[in-house]
Amino acid sequence: MAQTPQAKYRNDYTQPSHTITDIELTFDLHDTATTVTAVSYVKQLADSNTLCLHGDGLTLEAIKVDGADWDAYEQSQDQLEIRDLPVHCELTIITLVNPEANTALEGLYKSGGAFCTQCEAEGFRRITYYLDRPDVLAKFTTTVIADKNAYPYLLSNGNRIEDGVTDNGRHWVKWQDPHPKPSYLFALVAGDFDVRRDQYTTKSGRDVTLEIFVDKGNHERSKHAMTSLINSMKWDEERFGLEYDLDIYMIVAVDFFNMGAMENKGLNVFNSKYVLADDQSATDSDYLGIEAVIGHEYFHNWTGNRVTCRDWFQLSLKEGLTVFRDQEFSSDLGSRAVNRINNVGVIRGAQFQQDSGPMSHPIRPDKVIEMNNFYTVTVYEKGSEVIRMMHTLLGETNFQKGMTLYFERHDGTAATCEDFVCAMEDASGIDLAQFRLWYSQSGTPILTVSSNYDASAQTYALTVAQHTPATHDQKDKQALHIPFDVELYASDGRVIELQRNGEKVDNVLNVTQDSQTFVFENVTECPIPSLLREFSAPVKLVYDYSDEELTFLMVHATNEFARWDAGQMLLAKYIRHNVERVQAGKDIELPEHIIDAFRGVLLNDSLEAAFIAEVLTLPSYNEVSGWFDTIDVDAITQVLHEIKTTLAAELVDELSATYHTLKQTTYTIDHAAIGQRSLRNVCLGYLAFTEAGNQLVEAQYHDANNMTDTMAAMNAANRAQLPCRESLMKDYSDKWSHDGLVMDKWFAIQGTNPASDALDVIRQTMSSHPAFSLKNPNRTRSLIGAFFRANPVNFHTTTGEGYQFAGEIIRELNSSNPQLAAGMVDALMQFPRYDKQRQTMLKAELEKLVALDNLSSDLYEKLTKALEQ
Ligand code: TRP
Ligand code: ZN
Repeated sequence: MAQTPQAKYRNDYTQPSHTITDIELTFDLHDTATTVTAVSYVKQLADSNTLCLHGDGLTLEAIKVDGADWDAYEQSQDQLEIRDLPVHCELTIITLVNPEANTALEGLYKSGGAFCTQCEAEGFRRITYYLDRPDVLAKFTTTVIADKNAYPYLLSNGNRIEDGVTDNGRHWVKWQDPHPKPSYLFALVAGDFDVRRDQYTTKSGRDVTLEIFVDKGNHERSKHAMTSLINSMKWDEERFGLEYDLDIYMIVAVDFFNMGAMENKGLNVFNSKYVLADDQSATDSDYLGIEAVIGHEYFHNWTGNRVTCRDWFQLSLKEGLTVFRDQEFSSDLGSRAVNRINNVGVIRGAQFQQDSGPMSHPIRPDKVIEMNNFYTVTVYEKGSEVIRMMHTLLGETNFQKGMTLYFERHDGTAATCEDFVCAMEDASGIDLAQFRLWYSQSGTPILTVSSNYDASAQTYALTVAQHTPATHDQKDKQALHIPFDVELYASDGRVIELQRNGEKVDNVLNVTQDSQTFVFENVTECPIPSLLREFSAPVKLVYDYSDEELTFLMVHATNEFARWDAGQMLLAKYIRHNVERVQAGKDIELPEHIIDAFRGVLLNDSLEAAFIAEVLTLPSYNEVSGWFDTIDVDAITQVLHEIKTTLAAELVDELSATYHTLKQTTYTIDHAAIGQRSLRNVCLGYLAFTEAGNQLVEAQYHDANNMTDTMAAMNAANRAQLPCRESLMKDYSDKWSHDGLVMDKWFAIQGTNPASDALDVIRQTMSSHPAFSLKNPNRTRSLIGAFFRANPVNFHTTTGEGYQFAGEIIRELNSSNPQLAAGMVDALMQFPRYDKQRQTMLKAELEKLVALDNLSSDLYEKLTKALEQ
């Protein structure tokens, strides 16, 4: 490592010494040497005439102040210090960058044949020296110059105001963004594309041109993205009263991108995975993912762009809130219950896992070395849960009043999480003092509940104790304000009204102490409680439910999420129980009444198909592994496998009947049809483990008229290691090997291949499959990320080959794309959770990595934390 990376602390925030009110950028685009001329209008704010600008990997060509050459400056690795500046000045900086050599995909780089940029969080400093911090808001004017043939489209933020041609076949376009913005929202794209155009009129009558740019030949695959954009614009007007504020909205899809998408003002840049879809190449979940991400980036226009973040510690201000908004969008357009189930799965899986490991942090972190490491499930998904809890406590009307007040106060400025909570508090009159702890405290609270029915007094008492175990980053924990949604049922399924002091009370209880008891009156029989309905807080619930109570709730709970959750709790009981049995050398057991409960759901034709599919889906390996202090890879895998095969064998007739009844002839992507395919394919996933499995799966693959059914067949063949697996894989690869994005699904199957030679096949795929490249993050995550995350048996094999492979890959990515490398290292970082033998091997790989002499700040931060454990 050149220099030990330095941590920054949230509490050290200071206002900038200067600001930049306007910037005029000119890009003279060339593959290996692009000249960037930045003319900034600088205004001194504090008592200092020295300006420190951020910069990273730049070649400085010239500095001028008010038109004159300036030599009072000093350059260091990541800074440009300019001295003796007048209070106001025009600062000209000319730098040179090499887009073609930029494999980190931050700053200005080439994706395929196009130039594009990625500036969040701190990528703008790889383009020019600048005050690259989100509380410096400037008006941007950008001129892009490039070869006219190779780059017919030259794009940047805002409105196109001028264009022209120069000699030697080049042309230029000038863009102006009227909204002051921080540098992380800057974008530039130059290339040749197919363009899909449409139009939207906002509710106040502004006509907006909509343009989606995709690689040539992909025009037909951009239709769903456009529909999703129009739906997003309409939804934000209807639900939040928020309108778009420019005359043009552009989206560009690129193949090389580190994340999902980026909300640059008026010019979103998307990973092509979240734009391109058609029936033959995209699954239903791809369609839903596109809708969610298009919505997410669009919603950032208000929550992120119009009101941005004061500093990066406040990231959840825009991300938690925008995830909440995109979840609500998907829920309003589709099935609320299914959306909630999937979102809760992410919290109980990946987010709880993060809380329990070396990267634990609050949704508003206190200490950061590399900001790229904090685009996490905690900041995003738990951040959204924190917003959702405020929504639960305030209700929709007060929450919307809070949003209105938030925009009144902070539109056009850079705000903090505290500003948001204040707006919610002031608009509603609800005290959120204790609630604020959710922003500063990390970890997963455990809510332990017990109940007591007093027949003579006709009272029912729920005693709720909360405890948050210490996390790697923070030892002492305090009691949180937890909204705890409950409902009580009589044995005939009737809802028992919650009464206290003679009055009806709300279902949402305010849990605020280490332990407290809620007593309900006029309860005429011992009730069955439905607890933590809607997952009203991101906590682990402990309550000693009997099997009878859970099977009762699966049928009688008034809310779909609660019925699903009861099924999950029932499965959890028997998964834990059987892991213990396997560890004790016993066979697994699954009582008849459990099987009957799932049979009942499968046969209940008053339920939505999509919901039944969720009930029949077992919790993920990752979620289950989080229930144990020490993860027994083999026992957990075996139990999940055997529960699946047992249910398959016991329910084979019902599964088969459902499978055949739900056959569709035409493909549509409405929510009912999606739900039916989802249930049918869940059935296939079980049936694959029965005698008829191979024949059914093979037939489905060959009959499929859409990618959802194709992939369901391939996944079933893979999971159950069916004889047809090889031929289906070959057929798919022959058909799609020219298309990396479609091959990602095939790569992910190779990554999760349970066969013992999986790693050999992966290595062979890496070296010889024409569609694979370690330079492309989508390819890498599909093949290799899937192996690390979702192939526990092979990744954790006791020969250590999986770990060595991970070490090799991460070493290579550390040099080419540090952000991607850091995203892949998590699988190695949980070593204290495994047995001694695996711990030793995992640690050895981490130690080799931390000794690299070109170690990136991204990996440095994660590895040092991991090794502190
Ligand atoms: N702001 C983006 C979003 O959530 C996230 C993002 C896209 C990002 N690309 C990135 C973050 C690169 C860091 C680095 O919508
Ligand atoms: Zn976002």
